[in-house]
Amino acid sequence: PRAYRCTHSASSLNSVTEEDLAYFSDILSPSSVLSTLPPVSSPSSDLDLHNTDWMGKYKGHATTVLKPKTTQEVSKIIKRCYERRIGVVPQGGNTGLVGGSIPRNDELVLSLANMNNVRSFDPVSGILVADAGCILQSLTDYIAPHNHIMPIDLGAKGSCQIGGNVSTNAGGLRLLRYGSLHGTVLGLEVVLPDGTVLDQLTTLRKDNTGYDLKQLFIGAEGTLGIVTGVSILTPPAPQASNNVILALPKFDNVLPLYTTVKRELSEILSAFEFIDRTAYELAVKHGQGRALSDDEVAGAECFVLVETSGGRREHDEEKLQNLLENLLEAEKPLINTGVLSQSPAQFSSLWALREGVTEAVSKEGKAYKYDISVPLSSFQEVVDGTREQLRSKGLLGENAVKHVLGYGHVGDGNLHLNIVAASYSPEIQAALEPYVYEVVASHRGSVSAEHGIGAMKTNALHYSKDPVSIAYMKKIKELFDPRGIMNPGKYSPQPIFQDHSG
Ligand code: FAD
Ligand code: MLT
Ligand code: ZN
Repeated sequence: PRAYRCTHSASSLNSVTEEDLAYFSDILSPSSVLSTLPPVSSPSSDLDLHNTDWMGKYKGHATTVLKPKTTQEVSKIIKRCYERRIGVVPQGGNTGLVGGSIPRNDELVLSLANMNNVRSFDPVSGILVADAGCILQSLTDYIAPHNHIMPIDLGAKGSCQIGGNVSTNAGGLRLLRYGSLHGTVLGLEVVLPDGTVLDQLTTLRKDNTGYDLKQLFIGAEGTLGIVTGVSILTPPAPQASNNVILALPKFDNVLPLYTTVKRELSEILSAFEFIDRTAYELAVKHGQGRALSDDEVAGAECFVLVETSGGRREHDEEKLQNLLENLLEAEKPLINTGVLSQSPAQFSSLWALREGVTEAVSKEGKAYKYDISVPLSSFQEVVDGTREQLRSKGLLGENAVKHVLGYGHVGDGNLHLNIVAASYSPEIQAALEPYVYEVVASHRGSVSAEHGIGAMKTNALHYSKDPVSIAYMKKIKELFDPRGIMNPGKYSPQPIFQDHSG
């Protein structure tokens, strides 16, 4: 029997040495190696981009960043790390919002940035096979001439990579229409923690030959292996897309509005996104999208963006027009007004008001971001309750918490609760956690609807997962990564088990 001892993985891992660097430099081209160690001796500022997250909240101390170009190179690097017990942090576009892509200590950063080739695209089936490091926008551009779109879209599309999307099981703005990556990803190629290549890069729509192992890597946040290739089903581009922003007098109208919109638009509804008044004002303040007129926003407590995607423009426009008329002429109107896009530029501008909230929040201050699943009916209550919690601790104000706001994917039951502060502080942190997690647990919700666990929520898993699930998650981690080298200190709710068998 194998003996296990419970210990913190990171403390029993080794740092990259000059000998390791010499080994890596032998298998990679010089442009693929960044290191502050001799003889490479890159300036530490060159590594800063890889040691700091998008929000500027997490800071790592990696001395070495490797950017392999092939799966074989990744495999050789990982084999060495396995033998030497060196921690590895896979890094995609580094746009994650929970600190998952940043080393906790001085682990090796393995960036997929140089693995950015499309391997194949079949315009008949719409199946795309690409290296994990391909940027989402570049894949969108690649398949656009073939009249296909990616089944996933998110504000970070210009930087995030398909391998990062898969590893975080990113949701985004199209989930309502095309479902999650658990459905659209058809195959994966993964380098396992001992360097073995797991080739599940199939392009089959149906395959019931045993356990569907690839699902484990979707949302594993780099804790079970390195995703190097992705096979994904891309849908045909809609022939017509429209959008409208609806201004609502009160949050309570969102639920009945969603029911009405679903019923009236049925198959052409492709997004139903929510922003509260504070989120709208921050988006406008920071130049995201075109502001609505004073009349249009007067008396609005929140806004909903509805998108349609369909096969015939006239048909879709008529449906949307009818919906607007019915909403405005109802005896008790659910909306104050609706602003319909009239051109591709306006279509993008209305989307920017929703999609740009993340950017606006980060320009406004330091964000505490909670992406939670709770019943739709409690979205507003959760936002207001959090504001009250901060007020009761005397933490609201220009020098502490400036805004508490809510936005998100109504159709997916996913609220983004953001707290924007002048700076990160232990007092604010203590007022928010476990408060927010307890609220989520009281609704049997999820502490992570889409961004993942990362470094942020390692101690919060139990608010959403029962002990049996957590125990099996640990066993899976242990099975794939007995030496605990893959993204140490992330995801795992407790210190992971360290293998002392060899
Ligand atoms: P990274 O940030 O580099 O990494 C994320 C995690 O995945 C880390 O744990 C990392 O170790 C791991 N990882 C990365 N690549 C690999 C790989 N090849 N193999 C194994 N592990 C890997 N998320 C949503 O779900 N929905 C949204 O709508 C959304 N909008 C966003 C908007 C903005 C402006 C920003 C900044 C972020 C947004 N996010 C959203 C967060 C988000 O998770 C993503 O941006 C994206 O999926 C991360 O991809 P990435 O390539 O940047 O990964
Ligand atoms: C979004 O829906 O905009 C993203 O998940 C990013 C965020 O939460 O800010
Ligand atoms: Zn989101």
